[in-house]
Amino acid sequence: MNAPVKRIAILTSGGDCAGLNAILRAVVLRASALNWEVIGIKNGTHGLLCDPPKTQVLTVEDVETAILRQGGTILGTTNKGDPFAYPMPDGSLKDRSGEIIAALKKLGCEAVIGIGGDGSLAILQRLARQGGFHLIGIPKTIDNDLSMTETSVGFDTAVAVATEALDRLQPTAASHDRIMILEVMGRDAGHIALTAGIAGGADVILIPEIPYTLQKVAAHIESLRQRGRNFALMVVSEAVKTSAGETLTKAFYGNQHRLGGIGHYLGAQIADLCQAETRVTVLGHVQRGGQPSAQDRLLATAFGVHAVELIQAGHYDRMVGWSNRTVIDVPIDDAIRQCQQVGPEDSLVRTARGLGVCLGD
Ligand code: F6P
Repeated sequence: MNAPVKRIAILTSGGDCAGLNAILRAVVLRASALNWEVIGIKNGTHGLLCDPPKTQVLTVEDVETAILRQGGTILGTTNKGDPFAYPMPDGSLKDRSGEIIAALKKLGCEAVIGIGGDGSLAILQRLARQGGFHLIGIPKTIDNDLSMTETSVGFDTAVAVATEALDRLQPTAASHDRIMILEVMGRDAGHIALTAGIAGGADVILIPEIPYTLQKVAAHIESLRQRGRNFALMVVSEAVKTSAGETLTKAFYGNQHRLGGIGHYLGAQIADLCQAETRVTVLGHVQRGGQPSAQDRLLATAFGVHAVELIQAGHYDRMVGWSNRTVIDVPIDDAIRQCQQVGPEDSLVRTARGLGVCLGD
């Protein structure tokens, strides 16, 4: 084998999701056909803060077909520790961006492929500008909140998991005359709740973009009862607020706060208002793990191939995306400018309303 003609780096950053390994596979296969070397950076940008940097040459043998089906990321990832305000052991915040840029320069890579959501791509874009390196972004997020792409890697699998949860909750709800509440992830966007709610036949879908009242929800459940229904299925997005307008979060080790708790809040309120038994399921990280769906494998593969071809063509600062069954690429800045939430006239909002699903308003 001749010496590689080009070397590129790749990292996975932010919360993991299904399909990340499928992206790595596609990038390595396409790059190796061009006789390029791919350096995998471990644990997102954290790998570059280690001395020596934690990296791994990714070969075709490393990405043989088993990896296409595998959840998680073989490179590891992180969704904390912004290098521009990095938390130090003494509690202070330090700008460590210079260390990352220096480590990248040492690797001698022509370009970096960053696989991330809006937060990670914003950080990588800032690093690229400061360090003068070339960047290509690949969108991944179960939340589907990146703009300029119809969908991101990981979303379809998360929706499939949430839909399966509703499939499993419906018979037990019907057997026990219960109102079942499923709390799903999605951060400030209600895409998972809305999409899975429709696919899984939910009666009530609450998303952060549409304000609700408990009275409207209770009245809808009562109308189902009047029709002779003995159970109800409800999906709620983690960022939906309480009726007092409070966002519920939970604290985790390391002073980290994450959304969570609205399902149990609503369970208690609705039990009182409807005089019915409620049970709450918080789906959590099962939405991120497991095998990627066929759709996520396809997206991951198409995105990975296109990312390498953008570097080959010398087109940088682009994020690959999906539109009308076609891979596209857009300026990274446009994709991260604003969070892609569910719009009031979103086609699926109209579908839900057309079905008579209660959106709480
Ligand atoms: O952004 C992906 C996501 O899974 C969100 O839906 C969720 O709010 C958050 O990450 C959970 O983060 P963590 O993995 O740190 O608990």
